[in-house]
Parts: sequence; structure tokens; C-alpha cells
Amino acid sequence: MFDSTLLEALRNARHLVVFTGAGVSAESGIPTFRDRLTGLWERFDAASLATAEAFRADPALVWGWYQWRRSIVHRAQPNPAHRAIAALANKVPRLTLITQNVDDLHERAGSHDVTHLHGQLERPRCFKCQREPDAPLPVPDESEAGRRVQPPTCLHCGGPLRPGVVWFGESLPVNAISHAFQAAEDCDLLISVGTSGVVYPAAEVPQVAWRAGATILHINPAPGPLHGERDFALASAAGNALPALLNSAFAEH
Ligand code: APR
Repeated sequence: MFDSTLLEALRNARHLVVFTGAGVSAESGIPTFRDRLTGLWERFDAASLATAEAFRADPALVWGWYQWRRSIVHRAQPNPAHRAIAALANKVPRLTLITQNVDDLHERAGSHDVTHLHGQLERPRCFKCQREPDAPLPVPDESEAGRRVQPPTCLHCGGPLRPGVVWFGESLPVNAISHAFQAAEDCDLLISVGTSGVVYPAAEVPQVAWRAGATILHINPAPGPLHGERDFALASAAGNALPALLNSAFAEH
């Protein structure tokens, strides 16, 4: 069912990079960015809420939206795609996991050392002084999620807390993006899972790997165009494709 060259590339990989986007968490019930917002958030779009300007103009609106997202992530469970990626780490000599996602489902599936290019929902910090709160924030309950909520204030300077994610127009964490590019340069296989590949500089990670000579596999029900040699696509949901790939490559090995 899988191309034999691809299976060989996986079996023989010295350094595998797995690069994930919102699609890997879609089957856990977390909406992707290109999905339309639903319910109370129907009349907003993600791109206009995920900016520093939006937070400055209406902190309660933006914080409320992130509380809603946190409540979805807290209720969600890792799916077979997250678990297959965690299992892959035991099958290859080296695996680097790079995600654009701000949820913690890779960690909850058992992956270690996850590089979060776009930050993490559970790492809020002060909008003014950048300090992180000493204790984790309580999980929003259902009544709080989905409406405007004033953000908590920083104990050091009294500024509002902001979500620990990278908003549109902001720079990516320097360590995370340089680690991602180094891994992309070094790997021999990169599996890109559930990303539309339109948000830069993250979208460059697979391109860097391909230019450096790695084999690339895209797993996406709606894959983009391929670049010819060493470029493969599985037009399938990640929760089906990844466990099946793992089985085919390593079942009898
Ligand atoms: N399995 C695999 N892929 C899937 C699945 C699935 N079950 N369901 C949807 N997809 C694919 C979609 O076809 C789409 O190409 O996942 C992709 C999700 O794309 P986006 O919503 O654009 O998510 P992502 O690529 O992670 O977005 C990048 O944009 O808004 C910013 O910072 C945000 O990190 C995010 C970045």
C-alpha cells in the first residue's frame, strides 16, 4: 500500500524530523485555523483575534477566545496520530518533533522535547513585563469559556497576562526556529503532518529539509503540489495514515 522507497527511507532514517500543524489535532476535536469558527465566535476570524493590536484594543475579547480554546484543549485527548509519532521516536535513532501547534497533545501522547514554534497556550506571560506567572492558570470552566473575560493581572507589574503564543506579526522564539532549521538541514527524512504550509517562517522548515537532500512525506487529506523526486504525499487523515505507516515500515522488523 505504501511506496517501497518511502518505507525504506523510514526504516533507514538516521534523523527523522516530524513537523506538525493543526491537522494533527483535528481528529482530537480541535478546530484548525482554516476551519470557520463556530458558536459564539462565528462572526470572528482567527487571524483578526490572534494579534497584539486586537489584544490591546479589547483584551477581554481576545483573552475570552483563548480561554475557549484552552477549554477545548483540556477536554481533548491525543489521537492515534499523536501516539504514532510518540512511538516513532523508539523506532529511529533520532527524532526531532517540531510543531506549530499551541496545544499539549504531543506531550500528553508521550513525546518528549517538543519544539513549539508558535508558543504554547499554557505558557501565558505578562503583556507588559513579559514575566510568566508563578503558578499555572486554572482551567476555564464551561461557563467562562466562550465569552469576554478580563485577563488576570501580573503579580509583579499589574499588567494584563497574554497567551503564550506567537501572534501574527510577532517573531518566533529564536531558539525554537533555529533548532528547527538545524534539524531540517541535518535530517534525512521529514514527515509533515496536517499543515497548510502557508504561515512563514514555519512553512520553510520542510523546504529547507528538501533543499538539503532529505526525503519529504506530506500527510494531509488535501495535499499541495509535489516537487518531484524525494517528495511523497499521503492524501489521508493523520490518524489513519501514521499508524498504518508505522505498522508497514516496522511490523516485522
Ligand atoms: N489529518 C491531517 N491533516 C489534516 C486533517 C487530518 N485529520 N484535517 C485537516 N488537515 C489539514 C488541512 O487540510 C490543512 O491543510 O491540516 C491543515 C491545517 O491547516 P491550518 O489550519 O492552516 O493549520 P497550520 O498549518 O497549523 O497553520 C499554521 O497558522 O494561524 C496560524 O499560528 C497558527 O500555527 C498556526 C499556523
